Amino acid sequence: MKVGGRQYVTVWGSREGVPEVRVIDQRKLPFAFEIESLTTVGAVAIAIRDMHVRGAGCIGATAGYGMWLAAGECRGSEERLRELAAQLTATRPTATNLAWAVARQLRALSAHDASRWPEIAWREAEAIAAEDAEWCRRIGEHGLPLIREVAARKAPGEPVNILTHCNAGWLAFTDWGSATAPIYTAHRAGVAVHVWVDETRPRNQGARLTAWELAGEGVPHTVIADNLGGHLMQKGEVDMVITGTDRTTYTGDVANKVGTYLKALAAKDNDVPFYVALPSSTFDWETADGVADIPIEERDGGEVSRVEGMLASGELAEVDIVNPGSATANYAFDVTPARLVTALITERGICQASREGIAELFPRGGG
Ligand code: MRU
Repeated sequence: MKVGGRQYVTVWGSREGVPEVRVIDQRKLPFAFEIESLTTVGAVAIAIRDMHVRGAGCIGATAGYGMWLAAGECRGSEERLRELAAQLTATRPTATNLAWAVARQLRALSAHDASRWPEIAWREAEAIAAEDAEWCRRIGEHGLPLIREVAARKAPGEPVNILTHCNAGWLAFTDWGSATAPIYTAHRAGVAVHVWVDETRPRNQGARLTAWELAGEGVPHTVIADNLGGHLMQKGEVDMVITGTDRTTYTGDVANKVGTYLKALAAKDNDVPFYVALPSSTFDWETADGVADIPIEERDGGEVSRVEGMLASGELAEVDIVNPGSATANYAFDVTPARLVTALITERGICQASREGIAELFPRGGG
């Protein structure tokens, strides 16, 4: 997507001089647009853990490039390579794409002599990043008819109202986004859309990142408190929900940013279609029961008790918002059972959120 008239992806590598992974530093958005340079596996691991980069596909692609740095740093030692791989994988436990990208790199490298690892890992990292963008673009194509169908029932010019949670936009991938790809595609095709953007406490990825992205593409949108969605659905103000996902079981259970489950319940109660958009790199082909078995990342309670924003002086600052001394809990994700998901939008098309529906589109699973 374009920022200030220039085309960007969220993460890329540079081989001119010292090997470098470059990322858009998402901690600064929407207040500042800065590129960060990462030159060691340790720096990549910190950037993922501390959410300089975030979002399932983006952390997968960043880990892919991290493995390229690892292929140089390990100096031909397979033991060291595996240690560095484990360091990357441990940074964020819920999103599948991260572990998937690291495992894909290890598989690719294991087929070659150690002297070739940096070159092989570079190629694989480039492929992971490019595929991520292409798969998201296709999600946009497959999701467009769902939006068009609703638009056809509306008065001319009346927008299709889409609610989304967190940021499953281009910042969460290398480009396009998952939940936002159908929205961007529809908007570019001249279909009137309006997006209800859940602010997404505690880190406010909706208010900060999704709103910034939509503004950049000129998509009409309104930021709302996380608790408003149910009311809007009761009033007929939401035509569909589209969210992303950090991990989806092969049976269709969806782990996504905490709060997603409550939106799915409200959508079910109000007959609002609830779609989940994902590239196949987000499927977990081993897990059947998402509620029981998907590991849910628990983050620092400080993300709940403090909030960050920009002061009138232009400085970024954090303020306390919770009674001093009160306990906080900060589970980063929740699981929406497949029965609440209307359909999945993938790079291969749309399918039911069920073992059979997913198997029809992906008969070989992750193979
Ligand atoms: O904790 P984050 O910001 O990395 O969480 C990921 C997300 O932004 C959402 O859960 C998103 O909807 C899925 S990632 C495409």
